[in-house]
Amino acid sequence: MAAQSAIATKNTGSANHDGIVGGVTHVKHPLTQYHVTQLRNHKTDSAEFRLSVRCLAALMAYEATKDLPTVATQVETPLETADGVALSGRVGLIPILRAGLSMVDPILDLMPTAEVWHLGLYRDEATAQPVRYYDKLPEQRPVDVALILDPMLATGGSVTAALTSLREWGVPHVKVLSLIASREGVDTVASQFREAQIYVCQIDPVLNDQKFIVPGLGDAGDRIFNTVGDD
Ligand code: PRP
Repeated sequence: MAAQSAIATKNTGSANHDGIVGGVTHVKHPLTQYHVTQLRNHKTDSAEFRLSVRCLAALMAYEATKDLPTVATQVETPLETADGVALSGRVGLIPILRAGLSMVDPILDLMPTAEVWHLGLYRDEATAQPVRYYDKLPEQRPVDVALILDPMLATGGSVTAALTSLREWGVPHVKVLSLIASREGVDTVASQFREAQIYVCQIDPVLNDQKFIVPGLGDAGDRIFNTVGDD
């Protein structure tokens, strides 16, 4: 009998031209639930917060990379030749600055050959609209698979801006990894980018008047970089 994933998933989207099914996957596992609880707790300090983000990023990447293409290869063990696999194709990690930076290293540890292309976006506090301030995406040679990394998906404006950039770059297969999302935000992004695969560990019910996820976990960027209250 084939081994079963302990992570419950659900795809609800539609296939793109390569037959890839988009939609929302809720990555739910005792370890993801534990680390989300750590992130939610206002008593969790910055170092502990970063550690839980790293654990969640790795757990999500495990789930989100199940369909990465591989090619057969062979290696010499100390005893004899063994069959194995190598990853094929170019994978790009696209962290949305600042908070997305925290998810890069644990995923690069899993995929050391991945490329990292940075996008700088912050959310205007008055309008909640994303503001671009840095874009490292090249114009040519899109990667085969892109993973957008951002711990939070609130209104979905920042992820929408990132997905639009990747569409313009010509990336055929895009995945979004967000630790926590609002129901409204994830539904908005999923309906506008039906080919995108969206992975979240937690979907919260509402956004408050300031467009913060409730109950949420506060401002991930400030908690990761220990800048709470320094704006
Ligand atoms: C936060 C978060 C997302 C965005 C989510 O970033 O990390 O990028 O807001 O909100 P949205 O879905 O409504 O666009 P923030 O603007 O606080 O910047 P930071 O990462 O520099 O802290």
